[in-house]
Amino acid sequence: MTGRMGRFRAMRPCLLKRRNMKKRSVLFVCLGNICRSPAGEGVLLDLLAKRSLVDRIEVDSAGTMGYHTGNPADARMRLAASKRSVDLPSRARQVTKKDLDTFDLVIAMDRENLADLRRLHATPKARVCLFSEFLDDTWPTDVPDPYYGGDDGFEYVLDMMEAGCPKIIEELVVKNEHSV
Ligand code: 4NP
Repeated sequence: MTGRMGRFRAMRPCLLKRRNMKKRSVLFVCLGNICRSPAGEGVLLDLLAKRSLVDRIEVDSAGTMGYHTGNPADARMRLAASKRSVDLPSRARQVTKKDLDTFDLVIAMDRENLADLRRLHATPKARVCLFSEFLDDTWPTDVPDPYYGGDDGFEYVLDMMEAGCPKIIEELVVKNEHSV
């Protein structure tokens, strides 16, 4: 066997499966897009890198308000994340109706964010849900907004992101693999 066909036949089945798999996408959404959703984006990207899965999921974040558009994540959140060796690469932007039709999964940090997303688009193609869907019952329903509080609030948000992000990977990658 020679040429392209030979290489195709020789490829390991698991690699062949990976090649055919569609890249999935996830958008984290909070109010300002400078604290909670950038933390979700950074923690998930870090986890994907550690598991060699960065090519499998596109990760982004946005805010329901556009007040901080263009800004990096809040310096207090970046500092807390850097102590865990997590980089937060986001620049704030406002979520759009189109986002809700183009991302596979849109994750709201609290119930107010979720209600705002539903108002923006009542029939989205994306699955739109709360972050706490990826957590067990020991965590609160809403990811608390740390913006007006102390340093412990930023640590708590990161703890929540670290607890929930593995489940997001499970939904977008592991279940996807089994459906191919
Ligand atoms: P975030 O936090 O929604 O987690 O990014 C906030 C950031 C800024 C403001 C509110 C919440 N703000 O009012 O400017």
